[in-house]
Parts: sequence; C-alpha cells; structure tokens
Amino acid sequence: MVLWFRCNEIIPGTSLGILFIAVILGIYFLQLEFSGFPAKDRICRMASNYTENLEQFKEEKHKAFVVGYTGEVGKELVKQLANSNLYEKVVLIGRREVPPEKIHGVEFEQRVVDFEKLDEHADAFSDLDVGYCCLGTTKGKAGADGFVKVDFDYVLSVGQTAKSKGCKHFSLVSSQGANKDSAILYTRIKGQIEEALKNLQFNRLSVFRPGVIMCEREESRPVEAVARTLLKPIAFFFPTAMTTPVGYVATSMINNALSKTEKTYELYENKAIHELAKMAEAPKGCKSKK
Ligand SMILES: NC(=O)c1ccc[n+]([C@@H]2O[C@H](COP(=O)([O-])OP(=O)(O)OC[C@H]3O[C@@H](n4cnc5c(N)ncnc54)[C@H](OP(=O)(O)O)[C@@H]3O)[C@@H](O)[C@H]2O)c1
Repeated sequence: MVLWFRCNEIIPGTSLGILFIAVILGIYFLQLEFSGFPAKDRICRMASNYTENLEQFKEEKHKAFVVGYTGEVGKELVKQLANSNLYEKVVLIGRREVPPEKIHGVEFEQRVVDFEKLDEHADAFSDLDVGYCCLGTTKGKAGADGFVKVDFDYVLSVGQTAKSKGCKHFSLVSSQGANKDSAILYTRIKGQIEEALKNLQFNRLSVFRPGVIMCEREESRPVEAVARTLLKPIAFFFPTAMTTPVGYVATSMINNALSKTEKTYELYENKAIHELAKMAEAPKGCKSKK
C-alpha cells in the first residue's frame, strides 16, 4: 500500500520532470534551428557566385595538401577532392602510408612525415598553397597529454611549416564549443589552437566548428557510437543543432576554399557548415540564385 502510494507520487513527478526538460530542450533546439548566424550574408554571396568561382578556381591551378587524411573527415575530404578535379595536385601528408583502398581507392601522392620533427620534413609541404587540416585524437585514445600534443602541438607545427613553405589558405577542423578559456580540456585546446593559428597570419585562415560528426566510424569507439545513436533523433528534427554529417564537413571546406572572399579569417559554426555544404544549391535563407 505504502509502495503503491509512493510510486503514484514518484512516477508522475518523474514523467513531468522529463517532459519539462524535453520541452525546454525542444524550445532551445528550435530557436537554434531557426535563428540566423553570423556568416550568413557572406555564404549567400559566395553561393550566388558559386559557378563562376568554381571555374576560376580550377583555372588558377591550385595545389593542396590534406593532413589527417586517414581519419573520418579526412577520408571523406579526399574522396570529394578526387571527384571534384578542383586542384592541379593534392598531396596527402600523414604519419603512415595507407593502401588506396583505405581512402576510397584514391591514388593521390602520399608523403610520410614525423610530426615530432616536422621541420625535418618541411619539404613535404613545398609548393602547396591550400592546406586542409583534419588531424586530431581524443583524450580516451591518447591520454590528456597525447591529446594536447596532437590537437595543439602537431596542428600548430603543421600550420607553421605549411606557412613557411608557401601555404596561403589554411582550413582547420576545430569543434563546436571551442573556447580558449573553457574549463573543459577538449574545447579549451580547440580554442587555443584556433588562436595560435590566427597568430601565424595566413593570407586566409578558415576555421570550421562542427558538432558531433555523424559517420560510420571504422575504428571502434563505443562511447561515441552510443552518443551518435542517441543523437540520431535530434539530428533528424534539429539537423544543425548538435550534429554534422561527415560529408557536410568535407563539402563545406571545399566550397569555402573555392569561393572568393575579402576576409583573412573566417569562422564557421555548425549551422554555417551546413549552409556552406549546400552552396551548390541556394542555401536556406538566401535569396534564390540569379
Ligand atoms: N568525431 C567527432 O564527432 C568530432 C566532432 C567535432 C570535431 N572533431 C574534430 O575533427 C577532426 C577530425 O575528426 P575525425 O573524427 O575525422 O578524426 P579521426 O577519425 O580520429 O582521424 C584523426 C586523424 O588524425 C591522425 N592522427 C591521430 N593521432 C595522430 C598522431 N599521434 N600522429 C599523427 N597523426 C595522428 C589520424 O591518423 P592515423 O589514421 O594514422 O591514426 C587521422 O588521420 C579532429 O580534430 C576532431 O577533434 C571531431
């Protein structure tokens, strides 16, 4: 009798609590989904000149490198670059050479470097004017020090070496929530590397801050896999709130690089990444293309 009485009290109370949290989150996500974002006007301008920019970019015969090309974002980027024929040359720079079937059968030149002594491998970056950096690890995989080493030291070293060898436009995959003052190691390091790269003063630096990247990860990471499964309904109803399809990260980086801009520093939050990725069509909220 006592138990029945208490269940009667607790269950409706708990359900109401969950419902309340769900409503608050729903309102928050809805507001995120339908609010504007800082880079919108620029993306709309880029979109309206997409075809001309694309043709002109090809004529300019750029040469690019990709670091982190064996990771999920990197592999997708390499696949899209291979299909786009945008660059005269693409060089894949990493700590190990992989058989082409590991990167969608793409046979771009691979250069193996030691990220601990990148200055000794600086020539790997020679004559490549566009750089894509998808390098990264996790605290779970490499420990806190290992994470800082890869996501800060190695990335900075790539930036410095590439700049010294003539890289004009550097694109970095950072993360949603990046903040140099964050109390959380992951977002703090992401924020700090963004700042450090800014100080290198590339002609153009583009920073992308995706949410949780939705992909079929080759490597087993159970926690991430659970998180991705739980996030699927949110991704469905509120696609730009917390998640980013891996293909969108790659397409947004490519579309941005081929677009002209007067800016030397561009920051793309998750929503902007979604819109950049759809640049070939008119992105949502832009006036239709001429
Ligand atoms: N996954 C997400 O949900 C998410 C969300 C937001 C932002 N990001 C960021 O996006 C970027 C790309 O993510 P991802 O999921 O594509 O990463 P990933 O699949 O883990 O790939 C990471 C890449 O970095 C390389 N790498 C890792 N440790 C290295 C080391 N010690 N020395 C040299 N190279 C090393 C890997 O090379 P090997 O193949 O040789 O290991 C691989 O090419 C990362 O910076 C990540 O923090 C990810």
